[in-house]
Amino acid sequence: MAEHIRTDKTGHILTLTISREQKRNALNDAMYATLADALEAAETDPDIRVVLLLADGESFTAGNDIAEFATPGASPVNVFRFLQALARATKPLLAAVQGKAVGIGTTLLLHCDYVVLAEDAVLITPFVNLGLVPEAGSSLLLPARIGHARAYAMFALGEPVAAPQAFAWGLANKIVPNAELGPTIAAVAHRLAALPPDALRATKQLMRQAARITAQIDTENKLFLERLASAEAREAFSAFFERRAPDFSKKA
Ligand code: COA
Repeated sequence: MAEHIRTDKTGHILTLTISREQKRNALNDAMYATLADALEAAETDPDIRVVLLLADGESFTAGNDIAEFATPGASPVNVFRFLQALARATKPLLAAVQGKAVGIGTTLLLHCDYVVLAEDAVLITPFVNLGLVPEAGSSLLLPARIGHARAYAMFALGEPVAAPQAFAWGLANKIVPNAELGPTIAAVAHRLAALPPDALRATKQLMRQAARITAQIDTENKLFLERLASAEAREAFSAFFERRAPDFSKKA
């Protein structure tokens, strides 16, 4: 189990908490492995009826660990396993988001069935800025949810979307003051956990086209791996760690 993911099973609710505050909760390979294992196990554990994703600290997550993005030959097995587990999940998946949710921090929300945002939440998907392409099925799910124009501005321009806008666009169920985030999502989790689990599961399966989404994730993953090795992405990763703006002017 990764040291930066806390797992708690209380009653019928499995809570997974991202806890790597010194790196703004950036997700590394070991964390993806733990998250993937937990989601896969939840599917077959009859005791678990609801899965809740939380994060410690001021930011939900800064997205994928850029140091690992920048490591040549790093294995994508666990992140891909996590993405597929998100798309295949048949039990209710809930998230509570405070502060910044970058990259996968936003795209994973598209797989959640109930999302509560704190007042300071901001969703950001700067894939093109990093020389990358969207992942987690988001190239299909985000335009479907909010329309092409808005999704394109988020992906291509990396335009941040603050909580009120995210709520208005249907990316979240409600916005609450930061202090009420935990109790609000816990109350929803308990309500869902008390419902008939088979009906809940069947309803989610009807609402989500898992086969189509997993196929899109496979397509995205191939392109994403190509992009990770590109000169554009290498420049973007170097710029991040050198705390400067990337320079794409010389790239073909
Ligand atoms: N991967 C690896 N390390 C990261 C990281 C990431 N995605 N995001 C932040 N960190 C690290 C920083 O390198 C820094 O480490 P250091 O203290 O050892 O130098 C530490 O976390 C704090 O980051 P900092 O940028 O100083 O925090 P901030 O509060 O000023 O800004 C963010 C927070 C999230 C806005 C900013 O860190 C950021 O933009 N991160 C990158 C987001 C991103 O592009 N993710 C990939 C999406 S696909």
